Amino acid sequence: MKRRAMVVGNWKMNGLIETAQELAQEILEGLMERENRQLLCEVVLCPPFTALYALHAPSSSSLKLGAQNMSPEPGGAFTGEICGLMLRNVGCRYVILGHSERRIHFGESDALIARKLEAAFRDGLIPIACLGENLADREEGRTLDVVDAQLQALLTAIPEGPQPARQQMVLAYEPVWAIGTGHNATPEQVQEVHRFLRQRLSDTLGEELGGRMRILYGGSLKPQNAAAIFAQPDVDGGLVGGASLKAAEFLAIIDAVSNPKEPVLIR
Ligand code: PGA
Repeated sequence: MKRRAMVVGNWKMNGLIETAQELAQEILEGLMERENRQLLCEVVLCPPFTALYALHAPSSSSLKLGAQNMSPEPGGAFTGEICGLMLRNVGCRYVILGHSERRIHFGESDALIARKLEAAFRDGLIPIACLGENLADREEGRTLDVVDAQLQALLTAIPEGPQPARQQMVLAYEPVWAIGTGHNATPEQVQEVHRFLRQRLSDTLGEELGGRMRILYGGSLKPQNAAAIFAQPDVDGGLVGGASLKAAEFLAIIDAVSNPKEPVLIR
């Protein structure tokens, strides 16, 4: 089964409203010039919370909006938090969960990330759930054990039943040592982990769902390395940090999505 590719821009804590609007506009214009790409590849922008509403309008069927985090709570006395319904209200369809920067700098545990995942399903958002090993894990040969433990924690939060969000959920493999460092994983390293994750998804959720779920790679993706990584059979696109802040680079990464060999599943 061929899955529709996806490229997600994670802008992190960058961009005031005006610069966010300019960047989104440039990306939108670039996508308009690439009508055939739009069929091939879903494009999602994840600006900071403060720019989401301003990007509501340029986002449309060709550009979707996502948040970078959310509260597991449905609302109420949780000072400083943003809940899923608020994100839906400003136009979000997706939410990134469990990014390594949240795990490292904000102490997010697998258990908290699983609660957020459950909340995303409850609130009608599609999760882009991140996992990945750190450098010591890789050097000591623990990569697959570490990502498996993270995956199993996430899977406990996926609701039973065939609701569409369950099928649309996205995983992102992001080796911590490759994020923002300029050291991307090799295509072979990426494929090894993606193939393993897909097998584990199929074992746990069944072949149908395991075969449908998109698995993105993230970590120092650039126009120069994207095509070789995207050409791997279990890689369905990318989660892009630094290079998503420059329209030309982000569009070049979208251009690197390989042509499907089988009919694409349109979502
Ligand atoms: P990077 O970030 O592309 O700057 O390495 C990726 C990410 O953090 O999602």
